[in-house]
Amino acid sequence: MKDKSLIPQISLGPFQGITDHIYRTLFVAYFGGVDKLYTPFFTAIHKTDAKNLQGAELHPDKNDTSILVPQILSNDGAEMLRFANFCARIGYKEINLNMGCPFPRVARKKRGSGLLPFPDLIDKILFEYFENPPIKLSIKCRLGYQESNEINELIPIFNQYPLHEVIIHARTGKQIYKGIANQIAFITIKNQFSKVPAYNGDIFSNEQFNHLQALMPNVDHFMLGRGLLADPFLAAEIKGQTFINKAAILREFLEALFEARLNETNYALTSLGRMKELWSYLRWSFDDPVNIWRLIRKTNTLETYKNAVSKVFAESEWKGAGFTQKSNPDYIS
Ligand SMILES: Cc1cc2nc3c(=O)[nH]c(=O)nc-3n(C[C@H](O)[C@H](O)[C@H](O)COP(=O)(O)O)c2cc1C
Repeated sequence: MKDKSLIPQISLGPFQGITDHIYRTLFVAYFGGVDKLYTPFFTAIHKTDAKNLQGAELHPDKNDTSILVPQILSNDGAEMLRFANFCARIGYKEINLNMGCPFPRVARKKRGSGLLPFPDLIDKILFEYFENPPIKLSIKCRLGYQESNEINELIPIFNQYPLHEVIIHARTGKQIYKGIANQIAFITIKNQFSKVPAYNGDIFSNEQFNHLQALMPNVDHFMLGRGLLADPFLAAEIKGQTFINKAAILREFLEALFEARLNETNYALTSLGRMKELWSYLRWSFDDPVNIWRLIRKTNTLETYKNAVSKVFAESEWKGAGFTQKSNPDYIS
């Protein structure tokens, strides 16, 4: 194991439609390596006891409230307070405000990364929240919506408030998930914050992590996203843990995940869709991503899916750190 004092915090980023409470719980049990996890965003919190907050996604019996941070997509201080009050009541210590979602139907309504060009609105909602904050508030944002320098206007606003943390996905909203994360821009601005922000974007291997950490030694929290979906061992390996027979561990995890999802819903096809979405990342960590995707993608029953997975584990080899391959422009999928 590496010396713990030298290792920053690592968190698993939220993915709408993939990192549900079942995924998160099993992820921690099978792979570990993460200090914190975030829920995919909640929205439309019209009352403190809104119906969409009542299910398993936040329930303290189904989640470890000491390491999970509930996330909200909002541009309304009163709505954030309703969400925070609900979360505080059931044991959470922090909520996270999503200012990163890039999708036009969200951004058009000045939400997610669409909030970033509106410093006055951001100031207003933070002011409202911090008048009487029930729990800690952190922000996940991008460098800007149109341009990566929009953040410059936001830093003085962020610095006025006792934010627990700012996590920056080093892209613009307009980029969606394309191109590469702008690490230079992050490094240029990071010391202007009253507390050095957390870094997120394009960490797909142990080597990339080590390189990045050397470039930004005072960053004490790295959020990993697609890299961890593609290689769920990555965070634990960054921390120096070793695994024997990773393919067997992964297979067991996938079986447990599918089983638990099927047990929780009457909609088997929803569970199948979620498994396929995960495979769209995982495949990159095998030696034959193109064929794997051909096999998995067309499955439309539980049986064809299970057979396809058996074939993958029988015929393909687990390589790990797969999203690095995907991010190579010469790689054809
Ligand atoms: C399908 C999909 C769903 C996502 N859902 C959320 C979300 O609900 N909340 C959020 O803050 N980020 C969300 N993200 C962004 C990721 O958490 C992460 O910030 C992004 O992938 C960049 O990190 P990476 O380069 O390590 O993948 C989503 C990304 C994708 C591709």
